[in-house]
Amino acid sequence: MSLILGIESSCDETAVALVRDGYEVVGSAVATQIAKHACHGGVVPELAAREHLIALDYVLEEALKSAGCGLDEVNGIAVTQGPGLIPALLVGINYAKGLAINLRRPITGVNHFIAHIYGAFLNNGKGVLEDKNSYPILALVVSGGHTSLLLITEDGSARHLGCTIDDAAGEALDKASKLLGLGYPGGPAVQKAAAGGDPARFHFPRPLTGSAGKALAAEHKFDFSFSGIKTALLYQVEKLQEEYGTLPSDLLSDVAASFQQAVVDVLVKKTMSAVKEFAPKTVVAAGGVACNALLREQLAAAMPKRINLRLAEPKFCTDNAAMVAGLGYHYYKRRIFSELDFDAFARLPAITEVVFV
Ligand code: KG4
Ligand code: ZN
Repeated sequence: MSLILGIESSCDETAVALVRDGYEVVGSAVATQIAKHACHGGVVPELAAREHLIALDYVLEEALKSAGCGLDEVNGIAVTQGPGLIPALLVGINYAKGLAINLRRPITGVNHFIAHIYGAFLNNGKGVLEDKNSYPILALVVSGGHTSLLLITEDGSARHLGCTIDDAAGEALDKASKLLGLGYPGGPAVQKAAAGGDPARFHFPRPLTGSAGKALAAEHKFDFSFSGIKTALLYQVEKLQEEYGTLPSDLLSDVAASFQQAVVDVLVKKTMSAVKEFAPKTVVAAGGVACNALLREQLAAAMPKRINLRLAEPKFCTDNAAMVAGLGYHYYKRRIFSELDFDAFARLPAITEVVFV
């Protein structure tokens, strides 16, 4: 039995979790900084770093309390190494290194992007990853920083099929929300404003899907683009403001619903074309945007019954440390540890394999 302590500080969530044997989340705590960044309309890296510094001690205490265990029971430590905001990452990494030295336990820096995918297997995924019939696994990772499709085969090799060529889906929702005056973070705010709205009232483009009579270039088959939808929203809002001044709430609701529908349509369409081409046995949706109710509903509706669709639990979609500890277990099991001088990285490196297979 191995108990891994996970630490996450890549963006605006300070999180600590304890996971047993890679799947069983025995304790988890998250302190969000959303309120601190809201007035800036986005995450300020230095502010995030300072807040992580303040929060880490009590978040660790809370996670241990919820797990009902002490630090001496921890076998290994996993921490997000990147991608993310460097000042924010460094706080978590240095805190984790301090713990590792103090407790004399091994430490591993893990990739936040892969940890998001692993989040879909927490609590009840054990049998799935061990079963050869679960492969290939197609993963849609949709967050504030990423929009990607990754194909994982039964030997653990991974292929990045495509990613966004401009904004991430979450980033587009955050910017749309700001434009509509709905606040930050944008995803949940747009979802709330869209409730009851007419998703067909306004037309927004579905970029890189081969719609609107534009043939899709082969190299972009599994890529995404969200900046065009965002610009279309800006023009639409300006037009409506000329006509109405401040948008009445029913109109705002229709605009939000139409925008959300366009984003979801693109995500579902791209995922389904990868399903058609690569015939995965399992499809995973993970990352903050995978909390979105419309996306979950429409992915489920589009997926053939023979495919095991794993939508990460909402609490494991947004940034959390259970996904970090869970992934960290697979490094621990293989005795793959980091040297104590390991550094943070900001950008997603090329991914050719995952360790959890
Ligand atoms: O995974 P995450 O917590 O952080 C990153 O790694 O980026 O994702 C944050 C993103 C934000 O852009 C936020 O607006 C979006 O996830 N998000 C949502 C919802 N909840 C969070 N997007 C759509 N619908 C939601 N319900
Ligand atoms: Zn994330």
